[in-house]
Amino acid sequence: MTDDLKPEDVSAAERPLSIPSELPILPLRDTVLFPNSFMPLAVARESSVRLIDDAIVNGKLIAVFAQLDAAVDEPGQADLYGVGTATHIHKMFKLPDGSLRLIVQGLARLRLDEVVSTHPYLRARVTVVTEDTHDVDRLEIDALARNIKTNFQQVVSLSPLLSDDLQTLATNITEPGRLADFIASSLTTISTAVKQEVLETLDIRARMDALNRILIKELEVLELGSKIQSQVQSEVGKNQREYFLREQMKAIQKELGEGDDQTREIEELAEKVEAAGMPEAVKKEALRELDRLSKMPPAAAEYTVSRTYLDWLVAMPWARRTEEVIDLPHTKQVLDADHSGLEKAKDRIIEYLAVRKLNPATKGPILCFVGPPGVGKTSLARSIAGSLGRKFVRVSLGGMRDEAEIRGHRRTYIGALPGQIIQGLRRAESKNPVFILDEIDKLGADFRGDPSAALLEVLDPEQNNTFRDHYLDVPFDLSEVLFITTANVLDPVPPALRDRMEVLEIAGYTEEEKLKIATDHLVDKQVKNHGMTNEHVTFTGEALRRIVRGYTREAGVRNLEREIGAICRKVARRRAEGDESAVEVGAETVLQMLGAPRFLDEEMEERTKEPGVSIGMAWTPAGGEVLFIEASRMTGTGTLTLTGQLGEVMKESARAGLSWLRTHAREYGIDPDFFRNVELHVHVPSGAIPKDGPSAGVTMTTAMASELTGRPVRGDVAMTGEITLSGRVLPVGGIKEKVLAARRVGISEVILPKQNAKNVNEDLTPELRQGLTVHLVSTIDEVLALSLQPVSTDLRPTPGEPDRRRKEEGKPEAKRGRAYAPRSPA
Ligand SMILES: Nc1ncnc2c1ncn2[C@@H]1O[C@H](COP(=O)(O)OP(=O)(O)OP(=O)(O)O)[C@@H](O)[C@H]1O
Ligand SMILES: [Mg+2]
Repeated sequence: MTDDLKPEDVSAAERPLSIPSELPILPLRDTVLFPNSFMPLAVARESSVRLIDDAIVNGKLIAVFAQLDAAVDEPGQADLYGVGTATHIHKMFKLPDGSLRLIVQGLARLRLDEVVSTHPYLRARVTVVTEDTHDVDRLEIDALARNIKTNFQQVVSLSPLLSDDLQTLATNITEPGRLADFIASSLTTISTAVKQEVLETLDIRARMDALNRILIKELEVLELGSKIQSQVQSEVGKNQREYFLREQMKAIQKELGEGDDQTREIEELAEKVEAAGMPEAVKKEALRELDRLSKMPPAAAEYTVSRTYLDWLVAMPWARRTEEVIDLPHTKQVLDADHSGLEKAKDRIIEYLAVRKLNPATKGPILCFVGPPGVGKTSLARSIAGSLGRKFVRVSLGGMRDEAEIRGHRRTYIGALPGQIIQGLRRAESKNPVFILDEIDKLGADFRGDPSAALLEVLDPEQNNTFRDHYLDVPFDLSEVLFITTANVLDPVPPALRDRMEVLEIAGYTEEEKLKIATDHLVDKQVKNHGMTNEHVTFTGEALRRIVRGYTREAGVRNLEREIGAICRKVARRRAEGDESAVEVGAETVLQMLGAPRFLDEEMEERTKEPGVSIGMAWTPAGGEVLFIEASRMTGTGTLTLTGQLGEVMKESARAGLSWLRTHAREYGIDPDFFRNVELHVHVPSGAIPKDGPSAGVTMTTAMASELTGRPVRGDVAMTGEITLSGRVLPVGGIKEKVLAARRVGISEVILPKQNAKNVNEDLTPELRQGLTVHLVSTIDEVLALSLQPVSTDLRPTPGEPDRRRKEEGKPEAKRGRAYAPRSPA
């Protein structure tokens, strides 16, 4: 190390030296001594100790030369560099082990000329060499010197090994050669070879260049080093910080009694993930989420979100399924036991299952039960599930307008949940349930997306094995689910959806069928629901018929079931109040318990007593319906007013009917000019419900004809059919539902278009046709001839024409009969 350097005192240039031409040579290992610098030296070699001992007595002057190879113990001339330094020994200490410590000062550069003796130590002839300062450009040297000083300052400030004092010392050196020597000797990191090079370079300019290169290289190394250092430091710092915070958190949680719960919770979840039988990809996702969860503090809002998500993942029936037994006779037995009738639907279901049994891999179509309310669509699907030993889930699609209800919300939403499909499967706890999608015709769609688009994917056997719910965000296999959909009407179902389903129509029930359903199922069910048995309460057939006729008017049996329930409730109450006698519900009891009948057969005839009212049959999603169409006339200016929320097609058929009446007025005894000063008003009741279609054409025409001729319409005849301007009657749809509706209200004669003969033969069961007269007509003339009564106020039964319906029902003949209109106009 440089020590106590006082450049002013020891300038070789200022103080000419008398250096002998022969000097003892002290070899140096791993170090170079520069002129003008001080250095401590340790001397241990025996020959060297001897050399120093002699020198101390002989003027303290020696020469030092660096060894080429520090490992050589007894160096000769060939082992030393050619340039060394004349040296003055300032101080010497002897250590107890015999070795020496010296403080030496470099005086001048020497060239080793020739070794004169090697024993007891090296002695050689030497020559002092001086710096080469000729043709030096001062300006350039100054600039270089300044540059060197700046670089040196930076090196000092970056290097932890160099004392800051060196900067000050360097700035004070004015002589360039000395500056170079001083800096070279200060730099501890450069090698002996490099230092020696500086020592050997006599040309000042070259020496400074060399030094500058050394400094620049040193700077680069130091900068890189500090960069690496700071990176390593920040890395270490971050890890330490995290570790520290985590430890703190653990301590806080422990204090709050939370940490253990969390660890236990995470362990439990991990077990559940293992046990859930997830597909590989899903499991990976679950474990990733679990890892995230374990790093979150339980108080964070995100913790709950993540936790709920994991709960959903582990709760899904990834691998859980119920064993399916397709035993066709058994299935048939179950279906028959649960439901009366419905033969066509049951047969189709058995066929469907037979195919599945033969080839379990077939991707069967989705079944869709279509029919009016209360005919047993939902309950049939439920009993299919039961007969197959599968779980059953039901989701009502009615009113769903948002795609997210099917497919869920993304987890980023607050309070997000999976869609109904995934929720249903979780409830089912099985991946192969029977899944009912109820009321598929009531799906909505708006700006929030179209749920039917999502359903398409659910119901498509080709792609539903990788159904992706937005919330779960991993695919779930729906291919083992048996989907069954239900609808009241097919029209509102988007065609693409309809295409994926096999439609099974279930029509309304006849009175006899309803009675059978009630006796076989509904009564037992309701009696049991009210905590009683057959021993407490029974219903007679007459009572049930009374309920069907007087208290319900429906295609299905839901109201019937409700009324039976109402009676059971009353009986149960009576029992609770102490009267425990068994009750047999007969026709009279029904009247007592349910009050006056809501619907009366006589109503029909009452309503049509006055001219201008005709009975039509309409088809509605709820089954079929009987409508009273009213026409009235007042003075006016030849206008036709139509009310009751009629659609365009319906209005046009009313106008067509009116035009036909005007052209044929004379044949019906109507003033051909009647329309000049008359306003006609046709009203179709249930004004709140929009109606459309051409099938009320004949009914509206009949009402107008009745009003204009003053002849009332028969109260036991209902009609349907489209009318043309020329008075022809065209076929219409929904014949079975319409006839069912007519029978429900006690109509015994129907007028249908001739071209619907096929429907009459195929769709109307023998039971439906029993006691029903069907008139097939092709012109409106025939309709009017069949339905209009004479103007007479004295209505007596036509001889030989008994009142058929009343007779069949075992009732006395009507007090007031009616005469049938003559075939030809009066
Ligand atoms: N053929 C039948 N045999 C026995 N019970 C029946 C039959 N048809 C309907 N039911 C009973 O009638 C009630 C109503 O049936 P369900 O709820 O299945 O009607 P739905 O066709 O699904 O009606 P909606 O279209 O209004 O949903 C149920 O209690 C059902 O058990
Ligand atoms: Mg239903």
